[in-house]
Amino acid sequence: MLDKWIVEFDKGLRTLFAPAQSLRPHPDAELEETELEAQEKQHALGLMRVNHCGEVCAQALYQGQALTARTPQARDALRLAAQEEVEHLAWTERRIRELGGRPSLFNPLWYTGSLAIGVAAGVLGDKWNLGFLEETEQQVGAHLDSHLALLPEGDAKSRAIVTQMRDDELKHADMAHELGAATLPAPVKSAMKLSAKLMTGASYRC
Ligand SMILES: [Fe+2]
Ligand SMILES: [Fe+2]
Repeated sequence: MLDKWIVEFDKGLRTLFAPAQSLRPHPDAELEETELEAQEKQHALGLMRVNHCGEVCAQALYQGQALTARTPQARDALRLAAQEEVEHLAWTERRIRELGGRPSLFNPLWYTGSLAIGVAAGVLGDKWNLGFLEETEQQVGAHLDSHLALLPEGDAKSRAIVTQMRDDELKHADMAHELGAATLPAPVKSAMKLSAKLMTGASYRC
C-alpha cells in the first residue's frame, strides 16, 4: 500500500511540475498557426488555461480513485482514462505556451482538492466511483462543448485540441457507464458543477 502511495505521489509531482508527453500526435499538429487579435489571443489563452487546469484535476481524481478502487476492472478503466488525460495535459500545456502564457498558479491547490475527492469517491465502492467518473466526464464534455462556442473562430489549433478532448471525455463516460456506474444524486451533481465553476473562474484569470 505504501508503495502505491509513493508511486502516486511521484505522479502528482510530475503532473504539476514536469512537461506531459503525448503518445498520440497532438490534434493540432498539422494545422498552421493563425494571426489572432491581441484580445482574441488573451481569451483563447484563458480558456486553454482553464482546460489545462481541468486536466490537472482529472489526473488527481483518477489517481485518487484508482488508489481506492476495489476491482481490477474499475482500476484498469481509471488507469486507461488517466493515460488519455496525460495526453490532454500535454496538448493544452503546449497550446498555452504557444499562446504566450503559462499554466494556472492555482494548479497545486486544485490538484490536492481533486485527489482528496477521488480517494473519497473510491472509498464509497466501485459503482459510486464509476458513477463519479461518468458524471465528471459528462460535465467536462459539456464544458468543452461550451468552449467550442467561445473560442475564437480563427483559432483552429485550440479548437482541434478541444474537439478531440471532448470526444475522449465522452468515451470515458461511456466506458464508466458500461462498467456499471451508479447515477449520482442530484445535489452531488450540483456540487460538482459549482466547484468546477470556481475552478474555471480562477484559472481563466491566472
Ligand atoms: Fe481530459
Ligand atoms: Fe476524461
